[in-house]
Amino acid sequence: MANPALDEKRAHVTEIHEPAPARPSLRVVPADRTEDDATLGQFIPIHYHYQMLDQEPRIAGFEQAIEATVRPGSKVVELGGGTGVLSFFAARAGAAKVWCVERIPHVADAARRFLETNGVSDRVEVVNADASSFLPPEPVDVVVCEMLHTAMVREKQLEVIAAFKARYRARFGGPLPRFVPEAAVMAVQPVTTAYDFHGYRAAVPMFVDANNAHRIARMAAPALYAMFEYAADYDGTFDVDAVTVMEKEGVVNSLRFVTKNLLAILPDEGRSIDWDMQDLVIPLASPLAVREGDVVRLRFRYAAGDSLLALASAIERE
Ligand SMILES: C[S@@+](CC[C@H](N)C(=O)[O-])C[C@H]1O[C@@H](n2cnc3c(N)ncnc32)[C@H](O)[C@@H]1O
Repeated sequence: MANPALDEKRAHVTEIHEPAPARPSLRVVPADRTEDDATLGQFIPIHYHYQMLDQEPRIAGFEQAIEATVRPGSKVVELGGGTGVLSFFAARAGAAKVWCVERIPHVADAARRFLETNGVSDRVEVVNADASSFLPPEPVDVVVCEMLHTAMVREKQLEVIAAFKARYRARFGGPLPRFVPEAAVMAVQPVTTAYDFHGYRAAVPMFVDANNAHRIARMAAPALYAMFEYAADYDGTFDVDAVTVMEKEGVVNSLRFVTKNLLAILPDEGRSIDWDMQDLVIPLASPLAVREGDVVRLRFRYAAGDSLLALASAIERE
C-alpha cells in the first residue's frame, strides 16, 4: 500500500544520496615536496596579503623609506608587487612611472583593481611576470623589492635582486638604481624557549615580536653574522662560525634569528629607516646545558632562499 509519508522520505533519501557532480580531484602535495621552499616561499596568494598590509612596522617603514627615496618624476620598478601597496606609495611620492611586477595572475589582477581604486593606475603599470626575468624598457631610479623573510630563508629577495642587477647592467650599463631596502643586518642568539602549551611540549619553530617574546629567555648577547648592501656584490651564502659567552646557567634549547632591514639609509640625517622583522626561533635538536662564562660556538651554513631547516645548526661548548 502506498504510504505517502514514506515515499516522501525515500525521495529525500534518494536526493541526498545522489552521486555528487564530478569535481576535480584534490591536488595533494607529494610527501617529498612538502619541504620544497622553491614553491612554498614564493607563492603568496591574495588571502595572505591582509597580514602583510596590516603589519604596521613593515608598512610604515616602507611608506617612509619610499617617501624619502622616490622623487617627483622618478621611474620605479617594484619586484613582487602583491596588492600594489608599495607601488602606490611610490606613485604618491611623485613617481612618473612605476612597473609593478607580480607573478601570480589573480594577485596581479587584484593589484590592478586596487591601484585603479586608489587613483594611480595612470602611473602604475602592473606586469604579470616573473621578477627573475623582468627588465623595464628604460633605466629606473629606484627598485623596491619586498620578498623578505627573517634570516633571508625561503623567499628569493637576494637571488631576484642579484639577477636583476646583472640584467640591468648588461642592458643599461651603470649606475644602478637605488634599492629599497638598501641593506640588511642579521644576528643569531642562544636562548632558552618555553615550548609548553597547556602541558603539551612541542619544540616548533616560532616567529615572535622582539618586544613580546615572553617565551624566550636570553642566554647570551646576539652575535652579528651578516651585513650586506643590495647595491654591492654579495654571494648570498652565510657561513657562520660565531662565539658567544653565556651570561647565566641554564639550557640553551634554541637559537633566535634577528633580521633588521635598512629600508632607506639617510646619511645627511645620520639615520636609517628600518624594519625589524619578527624574530625566528629555531629549536635545537640537542639542547646544551651551560654555566655562566661558558664559551659557546655556533656554526651553520645556508644560502639565502633555503628552507627554514637549513638553520638547524651545530652548537657546541668550546
Ligand atoms: C612578501 S609579498 C610583498 C607584496 C607587496 N610588495 C607588499 O609589500 O605588500 C611578495 C610578493 O612577491 C610575489 N612574488 C614572489 N616571487 C615572485 C617572482 N619571482 N616574480 C614576481 N612576483 C613574485 C608574491 O606572489 C607576493 O605577492
